[in-house]
Parts: sequence; C-alpha cells; structure tokens
Amino acid sequence: MADYRDDEILVAEYQIDRGIDRVARQIASSRKNIVTDTPVILGVLNGAFMFTSELVRKLHIECYVDFCRVSSYPAGPDLKNQPQITCPPKIDVTGRDVYIVEDIVDTGHTLHHVLNLLKSRNPNRIEACALLDKPLRREVDVKSRWIGFEIPDEFVVGYGIDYAQRDRNLSYIGKVRFTS
Ligand code: IMP
Repeated sequence: MADYRDDEILVAEYQIDRGIDRVARQIASSRKNIVTDTPVILGVLNGAFMFTSELVRKLHIECYVDFCRVSSYPAGPDLKNQPQITCPPKIDVTGRDVYIVEDIVDTGHTLHHVLNLLKSRNPNRIEACALLDKPLRREVDVKSRWIGFEIPDEFVVGYGIDYAQRDRNLSYIGKVRFTS
C-alpha cells in the first residue's frame, strides 16, 4: 500500500471526518420540515463506497441506501466523456427525494449522467453531494449542493478513490506522485 509524505496528504483523516460531519448536518437540516416519503441515499460506486457509508452513519435520518455503478472510461480514453451506468439503482425512486453521493466531481460528466438517469425515473427531488470537488476541471454545468472539500487540479487517491484500483483503502486523501 502506498505511503504518502505529509506534504502529499491533501485531506487528512481528521479533516475528512469533520467534513463528512458537516455535510451530514447540512443535509439533515435541509430536510427539516420536509414531509415526504423516506429519502434515498444513492452512492456512486466504486469511488463513493467509503464516503457513503460514513455519511449515512452520521446522517441520523431515516433513509434507504442504494448504489449504482458507473464506469467512466468504458472503452478507452477517447470515450471518457461518455460514462456508462453499468449497474443502475435497484430501488424505486418514484416520488422520493434522492441524494446522489459522489466521490469526486471532476469534469462533471458522471454526475450529469446519473442525474439524467434519475430524472427519467420521476423522483420528487434530486440533490447531489460529493466528498471532493475539482471545479477547475469542469466541462459540464452540474452542481453538487454539498461539498466536503474543494481541491486543486491534482490526481488523488484514498478514502475510496483509486488509481488503477489501488489505494482505495487509505484513510486520507493523497496526491498521486507521478514519476516519469
Ligand atoms: P467526472 O470527470 O466528474 O465524470 O468524474 C468521473 C470519476 O473519475 C470520478 O467519480 C472519480 O471516480 C474519477 N476521478 C476523477 N478525478 C479523480 C482523481 O483525482 N483520482 C481518481 N479518480 C478520479
């Protein structure tokens, strides 16, 4: 497993914990006085598995939890702007409030795609939250209402996020060192 120097750690474990606490409180308080069916928390796999599990633990509201799987690079880098939903959500979202949980909003194509899929299923409301946001990389005009941390244009790993399937299990977010 990779080991990152202090100056390569972008978001430390204690900061992640506080950030998720804050996002959970923001979501819960936005639901005060909302009387609708039980909301759905929808994690986007694989990257958001850790964030989703910690978020729902801290959320303290009744909710359903489901996941969908999105492949960002289905057939090589040329198709990177065409994410594919390889495993759609199983839960019926009709008439419910849905909260999409993403690991990173980078170009925005993945979130845009998941939003479109959900809209076609007639939910009551769709909101999104993301652990990390890289606004400098945005190509599609999508917004995540709640953000854990805004980060610069760096390639990162950890807390569910991988580089070639590695380092998802780091407890912090580290910048990948690319050596030539
Ligand atoms: P999008 O460009 O917003 O569609 O982001 C697609 C996906 O690319 C994210 O959900 C991440 O899984 C992945 N991704 C974006 N930036 C990084 C990164 O810095 N490290 C690892 N994966 C990333």
